[in-house]
Amino acid sequence: MRLWSSLLFPGIFACLLSPLTNGEEQRLPQEKLLVVTVATKETDGFRRFLRSAKHFNYTVKVLGRGEKWRGGDYMSAPGGGQKVRLLKAALEKMKNQDQIILFIDSYDVVITSGPKELLKKFQQAKHKVVFSSESLIWPDRHLEDKHPHVREGNRFLGSGGFIGYLPNIKEMVADWTGEDNDSDQLFFTKIYTDPAQRKAINITLDGKCRLFQNLHGALDEVVLKFENGRVRARNLLYDTLPVIIHGNGPTKLQINYLGNYIPNAWTFETGCTVCHDDLHPLTALKESEYPLVVMGIFIQQLTPFVTVFFERLLKLQYPKNRLKLLIYNQEVHHEPQVNSFLQNHGSLYQHVKFIGPEEAMDGAAARNLAIDMCRKDKDCDYFFSLDIEVVLKNENTLKILIEQNLPVVAPMITRTGRLWSNFWGALSADGYYARSEDYVDIVQGRRVGVWNVPYVSSVYLVKASVLQSELTDYELFNSHILDPDMAYCHNIRSKGIFMFVTNMHTFGRILSTENYQTSHLHNDLWQIFENPVDWQERYIHENYTLIMKDKLIETPCPDVYWFPVFSDVACNHLIEEMEHFGQWSGGANKDARIQGGYENVPTIDIHMNQINFEKNWHKFLLEYIAPITEKMYPGYYTKAQFDLAFVVRYKPDEQPSLRPHHDASTFTINIALNQVGLDYQGGGCRFLRYNCSINAPRKGWALMHPGRLTHYHEGLPTTAGVRYIAVSFVDP
Ligand SMILES: *[C@@H]1O[C@H](CO)[C@@H](O)[C@H](O)[C@H]1NC(C)=O
Ligand SMILES: *[C@@H]1O[C@H](CO)[C@@H](O)[C@H](O)[C@H]1NC(C)=O
Ligand SMILES: *[C@@H]1O[C@H](CO)[C@@H](O)[C@H](O)[C@H]1NC(C)=O
Ligand SMILES: *[C@@H]1O[C@H](CO)[C@@H](O)[C@H](O)[C@H]1NC(C)=O
Ligand SMILES: *[C@@H]1O[C@H](CO)[C@@H](O)[C@H](O)[C@H]1NC(C)=O
Repeated sequence: MRLWSSLLFPGIFACLLSPLTNGEEQRLPQEKLLVVTVATKETDGFRRFLRSAKHFNYTVKVLGRGEKWRGGDYMSAPGGGQKVRLLKAALEKMKNQDQIILFIDSYDVVITSGPKELLKKFQQAKHKVVFSSESLIWPDRHLEDKHPHVREGNRFLGSGGFIGYLPNIKEMVADWTGEDNDSDQLFFTKIYTDPAQRKAINITLDGKCRLFQNLHGALDEVVLKFENGRVRARNLLYDTLPVIIHGNGPTKLQINYLGNYIPNAWTFETGCTVCHDDLHPLTALKESEYPLVVMGIFIQQLTPFVTVFFERLLKLQYPKNRLKLLIYNQEVHHEPQVNSFLQNHGSLYQHVKFIGPEEAMDGAAARNLAIDMCRKDKDCDYFFSLDIEVVLKNENTLKILIEQNLPVVAPMITRTGRLWSNFWGALSADGYYARSEDYVDIVQGRRVGVWNVPYVSSVYLVKASVLQSELTDYELFNSHILDPDMAYCHNIRSKGIFMFVTNMHTFGRILSTENYQTSHLHNDLWQIFENPVDWQERYIHENYTLIMKDKLIETPCPDVYWFPVFSDVACNHLIEEMEHFGQWSGGANKDARIQGGYENVPTIDIHMNQINFEKNWHKFLLEYIAPITEKMYPGYYTKAQFDLAFVVRYKPDEQPSLRPHHDASTFTINIALNQVGLDYQGGGCRFLRYNCSINAPRKGWALMHPGRLTHYHEGLPTTAGVRYIAVSFVDP
């Protein structure tokens, strides 16, 4: 009966029911509520606001669309008079006397709850107009004494949000004659602090943030509150759950942070709910229709694995004739790698521009130039920035970023095993790095989504339209105080453009460029400590982990184990490094390099310590050999100590073979570094006790055998070409 009457005769229902409910007020109907905001531009913040309003089915009226904004600076103000002018004009056309107007900013506002709660709280305030409150007075401190005293709650008025009945708000703005750049906050404050007007219009403040939360001056009071598939903000000081959250003044980053969650953008129950909105799918396009991307590649310091970087660049899944490259290289050392890439593959790309070290251009200038290449190119759709130390393992990265359809978006990359990444979740007061509460969860993938953040670097995609409309300043990377990346992000933020980082996919990692020595031929060989994952990918045989897992270790002779360990590249680099060093021993018994100075069974060789490789070699033995030793000889534990580890060269006219001998080791590792039949003929190893030979050594494969007593062995003659092996006498 109640339901029936409330649906059909709401008016009667109110009359009849009011006396029955003991004076409890009739609920204000949601249809009476109109949200009014001013947005001269469709900023990223505006779209975020609309999404939250739509989520709760608010009816929103947007004023000033397409109008030029004259109300002052986005970040600073005072200003905002234009908002009052637009509101006044709009209200004049509205006639419905019991209409309720919620007037709020939108670029830096998110709504956390629906009209029902909003109206209920408005009603409970028992005034005709309720303003948001602030703990800080602004813009005129001299008005402080005129504000009514409050026992609890904020004392000062904030003009970024208020709610009230149409007639009262009309009356309030009726006298507005100010300039667009005058302060709206001052205008409303003067009305509020005038006791007569305050009473006549019936204005109060939402001092305890039940309706409105202004973040300025209240950052420590506000935390996220996750509850059953939705997210709100809680004011800890007043224990309230405000409906409107406003990142007023210098709190844009905090509203961006909260907006990553509120009202349901990301929840524990659903994960990200907005990450698949407004995608720009490429799948339907022919390759020739793909967006044109200007790609800037920046080499600004000595970096390991540059050759691998270019190998990966070739494998990036994107039509090369839709890419224009700008390669900026500051390091003479890397010229051969860049030149080799350009000579062999440059013509695959639609266009290539190269800036070498001789041009002495600084990094900021190069980045400005690269961005401008896209900005000025009417065909350019995106600018993709990629620093040389980025290891983009995901070949679809560029496509994924384009499909995400955001103004600025970076793929999250991290340094292996560290919390270091290419984004910041927050900024410190002086603009440097600060850790957001969710930073670790994002980096470690416990929260997956597309995150609005204040800083991205190393690799990111920017829409050309943003460069052409908003980021028109040529010198985005220049600053007197900030480093170029920080200056760039600062400039983007100050335009109100959102930067995102996505961890929706695994994209890759970032190299450490510390301690990179360039005194060798193949310097990457020395990266086992600094960049162990990249070292492994480059230098360890692709089937190594497989044999560890599936016990595919062969036993060609009793207690002799045979398994793949080095990649082809590792073998080649080690040989080339030794030949480059060139100081092969004479193969005589007298050997000043070893303790005692006498070698019983000499070979023509170079010791690992002669090329300063012994620490790296030890690490290699520990990481990649010791696990196999312990698996195949159970109960024996090795610390992989060695006195002798060396590369041997066998040549028919030099030293073709080695007479039978024991090794000064508990066990020996013997890795074939080149290919029988291709690089040499003959060779191999024979264990005399078992009359067992390995005649066809495989490149990159290691033989592991006991050193003494049982495994008396000889090196079989190399009959043509040159044979190389890497030998270690482990645990002598
Ligand atoms: C908004 O309206 C739609 C359709 O009218 C409805 O399905 C949805 O539940 C409403 N959402 C809320 C939060 O009321
Ligand atoms: C404001 O209006 C309410 C009714 O909505 C009334 O109870 C209250 O006394 C008024 N306050 C002032 C200061 O006029
Ligand atoms: C506001 O705009 C007027 C012209 O419209 C200008 O004369 C005045 O200097 C501006 N004031 C401020 C504070 O920018
Ligand atoms: C690794 O093992 C697979 C399967 O046995 C084989 O096809 C492949 O050639 C091996 N890789 C190398 C580099 O030997
Ligand atoms: C050793 O093995 C080879 C073939 O593998 C065989 O010809 C030879 O007779 C064997 N020698 C001994 C002493 O068993």
